[in-house]
Amino acid sequence: MQEQWTHIPILAQEIADLLLLNPHGVYVDGTLGLGGHTKFFLSKLSPNAKIFGFDRDTQALAMAQERVSDERLTAVHASYTQAGKVLKEAAISGADGALFDLGLSSYQLDNPARGFSLLRDGPLDMRFDITAELTAEKIVNEWGLAELERIFVEYGEERNFHSIAMAIMAKRREERIDTTFKLKNIVEQVVRGRGKIHPATQIFQALRIAVNDELGAVEKVIDTLPDIIKPSGRAAVLTFHSLEDRLVKQRFKELVSGGGWKLVNKHVIVPSYEEVRANSRSRSAKLRIIERI
Ligand SMILES: C[S@@+](CC[C@H](N)C(=O)[O-])C[C@H]1O[C@@H](n2cnc3c(N)ncnc32)[C@H](O)[C@@H]1O
Repeated sequence: MQEQWTHIPILAQEIADLLLLNPHGVYVDGTLGLGGHTKFFLSKLSPNAKIFGFDRDTQALAMAQERVSDERLTAVHASYTQAGKVLKEAAISGADGALFDLGLSSYQLDNPARGFSLLRDGPLDMRFDITAELTAEKIVNEWGLAELERIFVEYGEERNFHSIAMAIMAKRREERIDTTFKLKNIVEQVVRGRGKIHPATQIFQALRIAVNDELGAVEKVIDTLPDIIKPSGRAAVLTFHSLEDRLVKQRFKELVSGGGWKLVNKHVIVPSYEEVRANSRSRSAKLRIIERI
């Protein structure tokens, strides 16, 4: 039943080449997902290496453990922002490398029950952590106009933020907006399609980022990299949209100018033409890597 879900790890070989410098080392997979990167990394590492794999999604963690099925993996149900603390509790002074493959997995996107999909109807949920309180439904039905507009602008870069927020406010006076298709239909009535991109794409992105405080988590984990990575160790971040990439670029720059860190790649690394052809979800991926000196 679980085997229907797949997630192809992106830039796996490139990341392994640049991150796994110590075959006997301790590594952090901050976003275990379905374990694609971790499984690949373990195939390159020695029998005494270790990977601490984090995910906020208990369903993903269970699937990853089953798929990876390797005692070198310790799966942790926590945000990657807790990685420093978890390593410390395990009496590990720092990891040789860490990967943060941001955003959501194909499993989450393709599973209508999780409420991320524009293509299949489902509850308006969008939580990575299904034990968390805040859902997209709560935001859409309970947050005020100004707050809705703010997230549509800040996290969706949506130019029609005002008319979409107004249409939501009007609709929710009639009924609760509790499914992905109800929200999608509201946006479709206000905004026309833009080429191949569905008009509600940016709104769905904004809600997902707000529900999971995605950008806040990225900022926090970069601030705590000194607690996670040991000297000569590296951290790699894989981003999928410009908001995340700008943030990572800026924060890495600040770490470097503060001293003690250097950029591994001056120019962002992107998937090859062949990889994008084989896996269209890799097309917007950007990889940045930093090294603790
Ligand atoms: C793109 S997927 C990772 C896929 C994985 N690299 C693979 O190859 O299977 C991102 C995963 O990160 C998780 N995630 C997102 N934010 C997180 C956070 N702050 N802490 C831990 N996991 C997070 C999501 O639940 C999702 O499963």
